[in-house]
Amino acid sequence: MSEKTEFLFESDAEKVIIKRAIEEEKKKAKKKTYKNILFNSFLMIFIIVGFTFGINYFSDLKLNKLAEEINKSSVPEENMNESSNMLEYYSNNNSSKYEILINKANPITEEKLSEYKIVNVENNVFDDIRLEEETYNNYLTLKDNLKQKGYYINIRSGYRTFLESNKIFNEYKNNKGLDYANKYVAKAGTSEHNTGLAMDIVISTDENSITNNYDSDEYFYLENIAYVYGFIIRYPKDKEEITGYSYEPWHLRYVGKDLAKYMKKNNLCLEEYWQTK
Ligand code: DAL
Ligand code: ZN
Repeated sequence: MSEKTEFLFESDAEKVIIKRAIEEEKKKAKKKTYKNILFNSFLMIFIIVGFTFGINYFSDLKLNKLAEEINKSSVPEENMNESSNMLEYYSNNNSSKYEILINKANPITEEKLSEYKIVNVENNVFDDIRLEEETYNNYLTLKDNLKQKGYYINIRSGYRTFLESNKIFNEYKNNKGLDYANKYVAKAGTSEHNTGLAMDIVISTDENSITNNYDSDEYFYLENIAYVYGFIIRYPKDKEEITGYSYEPWHLRYVGKDLAKYMKKNNLCLEEYWQTK
């Protein structure tokens, strides 16, 4: 065998060794890739399961809190229809968000309650007031209209939680007696304030006033233009037997522009509108 042949043989042998080494490396790299894929898949599954569990956990927490509020605030059966024998039960579940009838016979359902987006009221003489979003936007345009006339409107009570409603009811009951409380305050779950569609207002020619006079020009003006912005005086003077509440000139309720106009034109309260529906 010549030197040259020996050299070639050795070189070929080296090539084989190198080829094997490369194949080994490739195999190792492949193994590593599989391991990585497996690890990442487990990690992804873990994250997805964890995330889903987290979402469920927090939404359960929210529902439990709501259920707790409702239980704490449960409406006592006694006196349910005491101040009115005209109240009827209607299924509110299919009503539009803003036409909804809430009264002593028609409590709000949990499902409906979740439809209302609550926002903060700004530039108001009373602090910490909230309203439903569309209600607030229409209130702002109404406020602008009144300002042009030199009248100033502010909200002293807007959205209320069930706990707040019950607290107010108990305060009235303790200070003024049960009969009075039943005529002026709705218990938790039966108050329009629980949706943010209702607001108790003060109106005055004084920008910062926290009191008012309902026999004034400014109130007369408000009472007659509120419907243009979708608001009704929810508990009118002559409908106490039908609504189940005494006259409340301060309590405005947003029902939307079309319905407010229809009710104003036909002199209907919300219960009467529902009876004709
Ligand atoms: N004043 C009304 C009835 C309410 O408490 O919702
Ligand atoms: Zn009110």
